[in-house]
Amino acid sequence: MEQYIIKGGNPLVGDVTVSGAKNAALGILAASIMTNEDVLIDNLPDVKDINVMLEAIQEIGAKVERVDRHTVRINGGHIKEVSVDDEFIRRIRASYYFIGALLGKYKSAQVPLPGGCNIGSRPIDQHIKGFRALGAEVVIERGTVFAHAIDLVASHIYLDVVSVGATINIMMAAALAEGQTILENAAKEPHIVDVANFLNSMGANIKGAGTDTIRIRGVDHLHGTEYSIIPDQIEAGTFMCAAAATRGDVMIRNVIPKHLEAISAKLMEIGCEVIEFDDAVRVVGKPVQRHTDIKTLPYPGFPTDMQPQMAVTLSLANGTSMVTESIFENRFKYVDELARMGGCIKVEGNVAVIDGVKGFTGAQVNAPDLRAGAALVIAGLAADGYTVVDEIGYIQRGYECFEEKLQSLGAMIEKVDSDREMRKFKMKVG
Ligand code: UD1
Repeated sequence: MEQYIIKGGNPLVGDVTVSGAKNAALGILAASIMTNEDVLIDNLPDVKDINVMLEAIQEIGAKVERVDRHTVRINGGHIKEVSVDDEFIRRIRASYYFIGALLGKYKSAQVPLPGGCNIGSRPIDQHIKGFRALGAEVVIERGTVFAHAIDLVASHIYLDVVSVGATINIMMAAALAEGQTILENAAKEPHIVDVANFLNSMGANIKGAGTDTIRIRGVDHLHGTEYSIIPDQIEAGTFMCAAAATRGDVMIRNVIPKHLEAISAKLMEIGCEVIEFDDAVRVVGKPVQRHTDIKTLPYPGFPTDMQPQMAVTLSLANGTSMVTESIFENRFKYVDELARMGGCIKVEGNVAVIDGVKGFTGAQVNAPDLRAGAALVIAGLAADGYTVVDEIGYIQRGYECFEEKLQSLGAMIEKVDSDREMRKFKMKVG
């Protein structure tokens, strides 16, 4: 089983380039099957979740052609199935986007309930509420969502919970409904805007994405397009925290600094230098960093997907920080793992009270989910001695070439899958 071995203690220094946004790409790939014409998508991250999504698209009969590592051509003109195979769905949560995409195009979808990272209960009631409001009949039987409509008709929908997934899913179905749908209390994440821009480039008529009211005027059909995905805000934020936690100096390239404002603000509050450029951000860590408080919120608030990486950074700051997780209830699973490395965090309900420590010591830890796994790698990079991170399959779901990018910043990290390889690494780094 693959593991990361890390010899920590080196400040990360240098330049790193961020890949395309995984969460935008997942929505865009699903939406790409909504036309019968060719769609060319560029800046696709080469990560496991995306590759599973592409397999699922192929499985329902769409043509998928890898033009190169980051570019794919999709043609949804020959889809045979409105039913998506269970195997793929269990592996990625975003497979629920097939409901909106298939329902919009074929007025019918059969999709097993999604899997994904176990970070909370993750219901999809808001997605279903939206589809029903558009006139679909939706039932859940034997773990599968069956959605069907004679015609999809525009509606006025208010989301009870700000949900990224529900916003994207409803936007897709409404893009091919009759009339103008108004979606209120919509999520405003950068990837919502990216999926809306993508759909608009296919001929959809969506206005207001990025605000809390989205207006979607249904069109008859969508056409082919060429589109480049935005940079990954969370990958960028992860490198920002890695720079801060290791007291490094990293220029993170191919980013949209505006998307990183919540993270930049918190790093500046603890004393890091954050310098914004047009499409890059430089983070300079300081020997002594201060505590601060964080509360995760929908965009433009502090992203829940950055909470573990920031908590690791705050663990190495002076004083006590409070981290409140208000989106998912099960996002502190890294805390016990970090305790093995000397971290001092107490969790009460949805609040983690972090007492800053002078440093971590290397240990063997388990990645409990994607972002918590990345956070433990950051801890390992900052720790004294060797850290082994198990279950790195989670990390590979969302980070392209994670270890290679870190190595290019001077990190001593390697992916190994035997004791022999681990010994070799230790001999190499001394
Ligand atoms: C997406 C992201 C995930 C990120 C999350 C929040 C993808 C593939 N994943 O997940 O990385 O952590 O946004 O930024 O883009 N909720 C309901 N009912 C619903 C839907 C959601 O109660 O029908 C609740 C959830 O339990 C959660 C909150 O709403 O508490 C936000 O969830 P949501 O924004 O939907 O997250 P995802 O789209 O699953």
